[in-house]
Amino acid sequence: MSTETVEKHAIPAGFEQAHAGVEDYRRLYAESMDDPEGFWGREGLRLDWIHPYSKVKNTNFNFGEVSIKWFEDGILNASVNCVDRHLPARANQTAIIFEPDDPRTPAQHITYAQLSESVNRMANVLLSQGVMRGDRVVIYLPMIPEAAYAMLACARIGAIHSIVFAGFSPDALANRINDSGAKVVITADTAPRGGRRTALKSNTDAALLHCSDRVRCLVVKHTGDQTTWVQGRDVDVKEQMKHVSPDCPPRPMNAEDPLFVLYTSGSTGKPKGVVHSTGGYLVFAAMTHQYVFDYKDGDIFWCTADVGWVTGHSYIIYGPLANGATTVMFEGVPTWPDAGRFWEVCAKHKVNQFYTAPTAIRALMGKGSEFVEKHDLSSLRLLGTVGEPINPEAWHWYNDHVGKGKCPIVDTWWQTETGGHMITPLPGAVETKPGSATLPFFGVKPAILDASTAELIEGDPAEGVLCIADSWPGQMRTVWGDHQRFMETYFQQYPGYYFTGDGCRRDEDGYYWITGRVDDVINVSGHRMGTAEVESALVAHEKVAEAAVVGYPHPVKGQGIYAYVTLMNGIEPTEELRTELVKWVRGEIGPIASPDLIQWAPGMPKTRSGKIMRRILRKIAENDYGALGDISTLAEPEVVDELIDNRMNRG
Ligand code: WTA
Repeated sequence: MSTETVEKHAIPAGFEQAHAGVEDYRRLYAESMDDPEGFWGREGLRLDWIHPYSKVKNTNFNFGEVSIKWFEDGILNASVNCVDRHLPARANQTAIIFEPDDPRTPAQHITYAQLSESVNRMANVLLSQGVMRGDRVVIYLPMIPEAAYAMLACARIGAIHSIVFAGFSPDALANRINDSGAKVVITADTAPRGGRRTALKSNTDAALLHCSDRVRCLVVKHTGDQTTWVQGRDVDVKEQMKHVSPDCPPRPMNAEDPLFVLYTSGSTGKPKGVVHSTGGYLVFAAMTHQYVFDYKDGDIFWCTADVGWVTGHSYIIYGPLANGATTVMFEGVPTWPDAGRFWEVCAKHKVNQFYTAPTAIRALMGKGSEFVEKHDLSSLRLLGTVGEPINPEAWHWYNDHVGKGKCPIVDTWWQTETGGHMITPLPGAVETKPGSATLPFFGVKPAILDASTAELIEGDPAEGVLCIADSWPGQMRTVWGDHQRFMETYFQQYPGYYFTGDGCRRDEDGYYWITGRVDDVINVSGHRMGTAEVESALVAHEKVAEAAVVGYPHPVKGQGIYAYVTLMNGIEPTEELRTELVKWVRGEIGPIASPDLIQWAPGMPKTRSGKIMRRILRKIAENDYGALGDISTLAEPEVVDELIDNRMNRG
C-alpha cells in the first residue's frame, strides 16, 4: 500500500479541549527532546513522593555499560499513588468496574475506599506468608478484582509481582515460577471464560510439582468449584483476608526498585523476565494514559486486554489508577454469549474510552455490524488499538461502526519492554492515517536504521529497523537475573540505540508505519510468540526429530503459526499425529501457541553448515515461493521443491 494515497483523518470535534492540542504537542515534544531533565523533572511530580528526587535522568545505552536510572534518589510507593492518595477526594468514586464473564451476573463497582481495604488486607496476607521486600510473587489469576488487589498488595509491601497469563500451561507457569524464584503463587480455583472453565488450581498443582516445595499457593475461591487442597501449602486467600488487619503501612521504595517482572518472548531461548521500575514506569504509564486517551476526571475507561500482558498492567491497573480513574475489568470474551458483548458492556457502563486489539476488531467485523448497531454507543469518545498493525479495512470498520466517525482512533505502538505508549497519535493534536501509529510520544526519539549497515537513515521517507535513540522513564531496566542478555538483545546490534525488533517506514509527513517484527518473533492475535519456543515444544515430542516454525498471514489472527516438522525415522505422518502435535504444544505452552498448520518436512532447507534457512520457509508458508532468492548455498536444494509441492497454505 502506498502511503501517499492515504487520506488523513482530521481531529474530531470535541477535542479542542484535549490535554494536548496541536501547538502543545509541538512545544512539549520539542522541550522533551531539548531538555529531558527539565521535562521529566516536572512530569515526575504527577506522583506523590515520600522523598523527592534530586536527580532525574541517568542513562547509558553503550553496549557493555547499559544502565538506566530515572528519579534514582526518589522514594515512593506505587500502591499509595494508585490508591491512598485518591482517598481524600475519591473514596466513594468507583475505581474498578468488574464485569463478570456471565452477563447475568451483576457487575461490581469497587470504590477507591473498598479497593484500599482489599489491597491492605491482601498485603497483610502476603506478609503473614513471609513475603518480604524484594521477594517475587507469581500471580496466575483470571481477570477478577483479586488480580488488581494482588498486584497493588505486592507493590505496597515492596514485593515484585510476576503475572503469568491464565492461558499458559502448567509447564510455562513452572518455568516462570522457577526463573523468578518466586516464594508464593496466587491463583484461583477455576476461571470462567466464554461460559467454559479453566482449571487454574489444578494447573498450578501440576506446575508446583516442578518447583521448590517451599513455594506457597494462595488460592482465591472465585467460582467455588471443588479443587484439591494441599495442607500446609495452600492458603484460602479470601478467608485469610477476613482475619488480618485492614491497615498495612506502605513500604517506602526507591524509584529504581523493581515493581514487576513480566515474561515475554524473544527470538531466542526461553522467555525473558522484563523488569520494570517503580518510579519511572509509573510516571510513564500515568502520563501516557492521561494524554493518549485524553482521560478526564469522571471518564469510564475500558482496556480489554488481560492483566497477564503488559497492556493490562499499564492500562487496566497502573496508568488509570495512578490517575484516579474508573477502569473496567472484563472477565469474559468478545464473542460470548454473542459477538455483541463488547458493545453491550460499553453501553451498560457508559464507557468513554475503549482500547482493544486489531485481532478482536477483525474477528467481530467478520460477525457483521448488526451486533454493534444493537447497542447504544453514544458514550464513546475515543477508540484505541494496540498489539499489531491495524489493516485499513479493520480501521474503517472500527471508525464507522463503533466510533460512528466521531471518535479519534489512537493506534498505539509500544512493547512489553517500553512500559507504555511510544508512537501514537494524541487525539487533540495529531491527524490520523489508517494503519499508521503516527508520531512519537513526548520524550521518545525514534530512529530508523539500515538493517545491514546499522547506519541512521535521516530524512523522509525512510525505511529500515526501528530503534530508539535515547531513554524514556518507562523503559525496562534489565532482564531478570541476566543483565548481559538484556544488553545483547537490545543494545548490541545497533550500537548506541535501543533496538525494538520491529521494521518500520517513515513517510513524507514523518509518520511512522510499523511493518512487523524483523526477528523470529511472531504476533499471533496480538500475542507475542517466539518461534523458538514453539519449536522446542515440538521437538520435545518423542516422534519429532526436527521442527521449524514461522509466521504466515492470517485473516483474523494477523499471523498464524506454521510449523515444518521432520519426524523420527520410521514414524508415519498421519492426521492423528498432526492433531496430537497441536494438542501437545497446547499442553507445553498454552492454546495461544497452537500451530495453525503443520507441514511434514522430510528434509529442511539447510546451509552447508547446517543452519535452517528460515527465509525460504517463510516464503513457502506465505505461499510466495516464486521469489525464493538465492538458494545456491543450500546443502540439498531439492528439498525446496518437495516443500513447495506439499505446502499447506495455498490461499
Ligand atoms: C507489535 C504489546 C504495530 C510490535 C503492547 C511490537 C504493534 C510488539 C503495535 C510488542 C501497533 C504493538 N502497530 N505493531 N500499534 N503495538 N505492536 O510486547 O511488533 O506484547 O514489537 O506489547 O507488538 O508486543 P508486546
